Amino acid sequence: MTPLDYEFLRKLLKERSGLDLSTDKQYLVESRLVPLARRFGLPGISELVQKMKAGSVEAATAEVVEAMTTNETFFFRDKIPFDHLRETMVPALLQARANRRTLRIWCAASSTGQEPYSIAMCLKEFGAALTGWRVEILATDLSQGVLEKSRAGLFSQFEVQRGLPIQLLVKHFTQVGELWQLNADIRAMVQHRQLNLLQDFGQLGTFDVIFCRNVLIYFDQDTKVGTLERLARAIEPDGFLVLGAAESVVGISDAFKPHPDRRGLYRANTVRPAKPAIVAAMAQPVKAVALASR
Ligand SMILES: C[S@@+](CC[C@H](N)C(=O)[O-])C[C@H]1O[C@@H](n2cnc3c(N)ncnc32)[C@H](O)[C@@H]1O
Repeated sequence: MTPLDYEFLRKLLKERSGLDLSTDKQYLVESRLVPLARRFGLPGISELVQKMKAGSVEAATAEVVEAMTTNETFFFRDKIPFDHLRETMVPALLQARANRRTLRIWCAASSTGQEPYSIAMCLKEFGAALTGWRVEILATDLSQGVLEKSRAGLFSQFEVQRGLPIQLLVKHFTQVGELWQLNADIRAMVQHRQLNLLQDFGQLGTFDVIFCRNVLIYFDQDTKVGTLERLARAIEPDGFLVLGAAESVVGISDAFKPHPDRRGLYRANTVRPAKPAIVAAMAQPVKAVALASR
């Protein structure tokens, strides 16, 4: 791979997925894209880039973007967000939505499903308290590959040993050969949809809870700002945003404010100072990105 190939790929990935590769990540690109080039019958990355530039391997660009995503996830990752869900968010929403009896939860960047299904298993524990409620859990990701795996709800022995309490394995999974499949009632609680967080997601409506964990870390500052602005428009005024353990809005965006005593939990900031026009414009890169990625 030449320095020019690397620059081409960096720019493409930034536009298509928000991935902000530093100048020294050639090894990562090599390890992920050499096998992909071979699958296309090409000797290496330079040839793959040439084909992409010529537009002669139509599927290549989407596959390159997918191959460069990091899909690391596991059940009840970091534990605390799920404690907050059980102890803070759902109890507050059971009261606040008592008339509507609806609960909308969005798991953005849901990867292979461990996160949205952890949410579903938590909600299942509420039993009768949610009877008669319309509960929606939407799982979205940029990658079709991870969504397919998530839909199937099939996990390896290794995957179910990471974070999933044994009682929940026994209760909600059935062994299928060497794999474990989530039972149909839990699978049916989660809907899947492909969605790129860089693009407009106004069509999804508004949510009571948004889990958007361990994806902003891959974005540069402007992309984080733009994504948080769009998330703020997709959340109910009294809703909750959950970010990953290494992520925060502090110093990045005032669209959300940290929950006073629940780490990693954010509320929409309904009282925001007016912004100078130039800053407001920077926070809205949706159209430019959407156009560039088509
Ligand atoms: C490290 S995983 C995090 C999974 C899960 N949220 C968790 O915390 O365990 C990051 C996920 O973000 C997805 N992703 C990356 N860029 C994205 C984008 N622009 N829009 C939507 N999803 C994206 C990747 O495909 C990947 O599945």
